[in-house]
Amino acid sequence: MSDTAIAAGRGHFVTFEGGEGAGKSTQIERLRKRLHGAGVDVVVTREPGGSPGAETIRRLLLGGRIKELGPEMEAMMFAAARADHVDTTIEPALRRGDWVLCDRFADSTRVYQGEAGVDTAFLDRLEALAVAGCRPDLTVLIDVPADVGIARVAARSSTGSAPQPDRFETEGENVQDRRRRMFLELAASQPERFLVVDGMQTPDAVEQEIWRAVSARLLQAEEEAWR
Ligand code: TYD
Repeated sequence: MSDTAIAAGRGHFVTFEGGEGAGKSTQIERLRKRLHGAGVDVVVTREPGGSPGAETIRRLLLGGRIKELGPEMEAMMFAAARADHVDTTIEPALRRGDWVLCDRFADSTRVYQGEAGVDTAFLDRLEALAVAGCRPDLTVLIDVPADVGIARVAARSSTGSAPQPDRFETEGENVQDRRRRMFLELAASQPERFLVVDGMQTPDAVEQEIWRAVSARLLQAEEEAWR
């Protein structure tokens, strides 16, 4: 796999991160439509999962079967799923010149498994193995307070518009709040890669903010590369 970020002809890799109930899926769909309208080929994918092998691992992880083996083992399983996803879905799409929009990626492991107590040096090594140089060009962090995210997930589950909460969604407000702070710290440490959006705005306002950043950072860079 190559370390080249945006070589001419290579697609763009945009990841979406945030706590539970941040509104990632809505915004991914909106960005997909806008890019499609701009004539861009888009692949939408998610983690854990996004390839047949990784979807098998997803079922184990979200069912809680790996939890009893401890957070290090969970981190390794997320990384194993990611390695397969990168190899079989993300890298081939980027090489074709497609845009890839991914619901969660390596930053989720940093935050969720980091919060669960996994050592940073261990997470560094796992990440390097799993992503093999395939790093996002842009990461959109949709930020909402923990209580708001929890209330949104609860409302989705009670109206039957979503499946019952998974193993990670049932954790308490303190945990969700620590994850929120860790995401914000990560974003502050890499401002060139992250766009932090206030998820308390209307969905239309969030969409516009994301579109402005994508046009400014990636679409324009692409046009210049071809000039
Ligand atoms: P999912 O149903 O895809 O939820 P969401 O809409 O919140 O993305 O479930 C993924 C869950 O797995 C989510 O609670 C976050 C967690 N997760 C990790 O703990 N580590 C990871 O590396 C990833 C990708 C997800």
